Amino acid sequence: MLQDSFNRKFNYLRLSVTEVCNFKCNYCLPDGYDCHTRPTTLTLAQTQTLLQAFALVGTQKVRLTGGEPTLRKELPDIVALCKQTSGIDSIALTSNGYHLARKLPRLVDAGLTALNLSADSLNPYTFNQITGSDSLNEVLECIDVALALGLKKVKLNAVLLKQYNGKQLSQFLHFIKDKPVTFRFIELMRTSDNQTYFNEQHLSGHSIYSSLENAGWTLQPKAADAGPALELSHPDYLGQIGLIMPYSKDFCASCNRLRISADGKLHLCLFGEANDDLTPWLNDGDAKGLAAYLTNRVLTKWQGHQLNQGNSGLTKHLAMLGG
Ligand code: GTP
Ligand code: 5AD
Ligand code: SF4
Repeated sequence: MLQDSFNRKFNYLRLSVTEVCNFKCNYCLPDGYDCHTRPTTLTLAQTQTLLQAFALVGTQKVRLTGGEPTLRKELPDIVALCKQTSGIDSIALTSNGYHLARKLPRLVDAGLTALNLSADSLNPYTFNQITGSDSLNEVLECIDVALALGLKKVKLNAVLLKQYNGKQLSQFLHFIKDKPVTFRFIELMRTSDNQTYFNEQHLSGHSIYSSLENAGWTLQPKAADAGPALELSHPDYLGQIGLIMPYSKDFCASCNRLRISADGKLHLCLFGEANDDLTPWLNDGDAKGLAAYLTNRVLTKWQGHQLNQGNSGLTKHLAMLGG
């Protein structure tokens, strides 16, 4: 399996399938996707080689991201390619949920196993203020469809924002009382595009953590392959809470993931490391050559993003890389 010079092992690939998005989340793309830049995406043949190469070096989980991945009309084919790749047994999607409920059955049929949805507020007015969209009900419908289709892991993401959802904890908690989903609160990350917004809206996850602890929520032991979220549960609630706190509780030491942007560049970290163009191998269908390159390249991965030391790196916004 891929291993870096800090003994971290990488069995998880986050693959962005498009950087186009149809939302204008004010923390991410306040002016929406810039339609003047022509989006580049990998073909299905290139994607297949990429997946084969990553599987050869031990990748077991693929999370498809964007922009908004459901805008790629070949998304079911990409899910199917993941499923056909021997070694990959977990195929997850991160989406804003727009028009997704009706697309989900086909995706699950193709092999999708897990779903993360953005839901920055459960108040339709606040949701619209944050995302520029009126589709909160569609997102909520999606949760029920996903559970009915048998997806075991349905997680919801809310980026913590001081003046928008910062005081809506009770609404989020009420929602998961009887729903077997995990609601995760994410500390807003500074990117090179959102500096002023970050200064105005960033909220530490610590205060939420303390409120939850005081209300009887307890930290769950972390599984060996767990992601960045701390998870808490409570005997009176069917759902769980997750906290993703890159500032308050750095998780780089247990990083298990690598990223590929929609145009086929390898990013060793979400923030600010050089990106390598993998298309020469993808164009040649050379999975073995790419696997050998990855094995060496991962040795140069840095220790951490150092967000809490003010780094915002080269990442303009997270839509570039799917978070
Ligand atoms: P799973 O563990 O597969 O559920 O993934 P996840 O929870 O990381 O995925 P999701 O796409 O829902 O992302 C949730 C938030 O975590 C987003 O804001 C991501 O940007 C953030 N995130 C995911 N991985 C990393 C990481 O390696 N570093 C940092 N700083 N943030 C991350
Ligand atoms: N900080 C934290 N989370 C972000 N996301 C997008 N931009 C940011 C940011 N600057 C989240 C989205 C989505 C996930 C993929 O990343 O809300 O849930
Ligand atoms: Fe689009 Fe996701 Fe960015 Fe919102 S956070 S604008 S849904 S890429």
